[in-house]
Amino acid sequence: PHVLSQTEFVNGDDLTYPFQERGLQFGDGVYEVIRVYQGRYYLMTEHVNRLFRSAAAVKIKLPFEKGELFDKLDELLRINKVQGDAKVYLQATRGSAIRDHVFPDVEANFYAYVQDLPRPVDKLTNGVTAITQPDVRWQNCYIKSLNLLPNVLAKQEASEHGAFEAILHREGTVTECSSSNAYIVQNGRIFTHPETNNILHGCVRSRVKVLAEKLDVPLVEEAFSLDDLQTADEVFLSSSTAEIMPIIQIDGEKVNNGKPGKITVALQKSYEEDAQ
Ligand code: PDD
Repeated sequence: PHVLSQTEFVNGDDLTYPFQERGLQFGDGVYEVIRVYQGRYYLMTEHVNRLFRSAAAVKIKLPFEKGELFDKLDELLRINKVQGDAKVYLQATRGSAIRDHVFPDVEANFYAYVQDLPRPVDKLTNGVTAITQPDVRWQNCYIKSLNLLPNVLAKQEASEHGAFEAILHREGTVTECSSSNAYIVQNGRIFTHPETNNILHGCVRSRVKVLAEKLDVPLVEEAFSLDDLQTADEVFLSSSTAEIMPIIQIDGEKVNNGKPGKITVALQKSYEEDAQ
């Protein structure tokens, strides 16, 4: 596979980094995951804009301008002859230098690769289960930082309980999930946490707002509680890899009798049309 390294294409097997690398030693970097459907990017502008926002927030200077990155990402799909469903992972770190907490005076490291990723059709149709977990992350969750240890631990806990996702809460207020945004439907209205520093401003989330409006379903950007979660008519999550995914059971308790809800299914349908 051809991998984008800085602004050049190299063979993926040939891309290596020194052990003194800021991403490896400090998690000192930012990343993106962009969805590809039928060989074409979905929500690419949103993802590239967020990468630049994340990098700026942690003072990493990317080795290209936005326009150049768009061109290179298109070339990444062409050169790898991608025609199906896939995801592109992009990562930028502060660079390679002798370990020191203070920023070194070196260029940022950047790479991007593409990997086949079929749509999770079975889970989308039948829904998934979740557990709730305290959100122990830092106060800048809007930055798509490489520091994913709390997210990894929460997702692992979910996995050990046979669940797909961990729904995170700060003192009873639901923020988002370990790698997706969280929503409930109550009396015909969708609720999701507002775009504060406590959540990642999901690209699919921004799309869900548009799709809900098209469907004439009110979407309220207002935080909801663990109690609301328990009594919700429907619960779902969203991300670039999971799309709009019904949650049918939380901490062992069924949501909507264990079936994907009506509004969730309607959103899934309009997402599918949008992504075509
Ligand atoms: N995760 N919240 C968190 C904490 C996330 O890590 C993600 C995405 C989202 C959804 O964002 P978007 O709609 O832009 O994909 C929300 C990616 C898929 C990942 O880490 O693999």
